[in-house]
Amino acid sequence: MEQALAEARKGRFWATPNPHVGCVIVSDNKILGKGFTQPVGGAHAEIMALGACASPQGATAYVTLEPCAHQGRTGPCVEALISAGIGRVVGALEDPNPSVSGKGYDRLRAAGIAVTQGVYSEAARVELAGFLLRMERGWGRVRLKLACSLDGRTAMASGESQWITGALARQDVQRQRAASSVIITGIGTVLADDCSLTVRSDELGLRGEELTRALHRPPTRVVLDSNARTPGEARVLSSNAPTLVVTANEKQVPAGALHKTAPVTEAGLDLGDVLESLGSQGANEILIESGPSLAAAFLKADLVDELLIYQAPVLLGSSARPLADLAFSELKDGIQLAYQELSPLGSDLRIIAAVLKGN
Ligand SMILES: NC(=O)c1ccc[n+]([C@@H]2O[C@H](COP(=O)([O-])OP(=O)(O)OC[C@H]3O[C@@H](n4cnc5c(N)ncnc54)[C@H](OP(=O)(O)O)[C@@H]3O)[C@@H](O)[C@H]2O)c1
Repeated sequence: MEQALAEARKGRFWATPNPHVGCVIVSDNKILGKGFTQPVGGAHAEIMALGACASPQGATAYVTLEPCAHQGRTGPCVEALISAGIGRVVGALEDPNPSVSGKGYDRLRAAGIAVTQGVYSEAARVELAGFLLRMERGWGRVRLKLACSLDGRTAMASGESQWITGALARQDVQRQRAASSVIITGIGTVLADDCSLTVRSDELGLRGEELTRALHRPPTRVVLDSNARTPGEARVLSSNAPTLVVTANEKQVPAGALHKTAPVTEAGLDLGDVLESLGSQGANEILIESGPSLAAAFLKADLVDELLIYQAPVLLGSSARPLADLAFSELKDGIQLAYQELSPLGSDLRIIAAVLKGN
């Protein structure tokens, strides 16, 4: 299953809106074939792995997610496993997609195939968090990415923020973007930085097939811009990736941009509505790359699952801008987090912290 998870990871850049699944087929302790989810309309992991096997009769298939039992854009994987004569299926997770959920494993058992479920399910859940969350609650995993100083500052008072962190941290951000379905930013960042928010081949530090996969499906850039202030010449509208401008009501947005309106709350655009709408369009991984105003709004609305912080060993001082414009007067009001990962990246630190729900 560890090898099936490693296969799954290969599909993380291009499988969305499908889950990126891995499959390894084994017989007599030898790997006969491996596979991972291909882009939409292409083969699922099981089909690719079966295609790589000379003779899968009686073999065991390790899959990171329950094989599908329904006819989608491709045929049901369970039928392919059954007709290939697979003897046993070991699965990590049940698929929460209502058209699969439990039916895949049931169909395999009904065909006389031994099924073991729940193997490495925690690791598989981490790998597939975006897809699983979208199936369970309507929108995918929401990660708030910020680059900051050791004293938690994200930009100077003048707005200057490029670049706080070093080249390796920025390379990692490129990979996070490539693995995201959408990147959300606020109009404040577009106006201050004129950022393009694209995935750039020369900054990913990847080669060969992995580079091809990372560039296959550029994430959609989403600008939250109530009053349609996005300038027509803004880099975020560059033609190499789609851009969606979300406004408060029907407004003219620059040519070439997709447009959506969202309801308005006291705080600005209704962020829950924005996420639901992105979820309905299949966004599994949602990366927020905004300034402190929008970052605070997402945090206050309890809509962030994880902080993804790149922290540089520099102090920018108290007049520089914070991670998020949050003003708490009491310690008990603080937003509680749990560190998931701390890793050095060159001279910087990458911190992944889960937001504990119900703060
Ligand atoms: N270090 C980093 O990682 C990093 C990353 C990005 C940006 N930055 C820095 O952040 C600064 C910009 O920050 P910012 O706070 O001005 O801009 P921002 O957070 O990117 O955008 C804020 C704008 O988003 C719009 N918005 C729409 N709905 C909203 C809602 N529900 N809640 C809050 N805002 C909503 C509002 O404008 P409307 O009312 O007009 O819609 C608001 O003014 C720049 O200096 C940039 O360099 C740093």
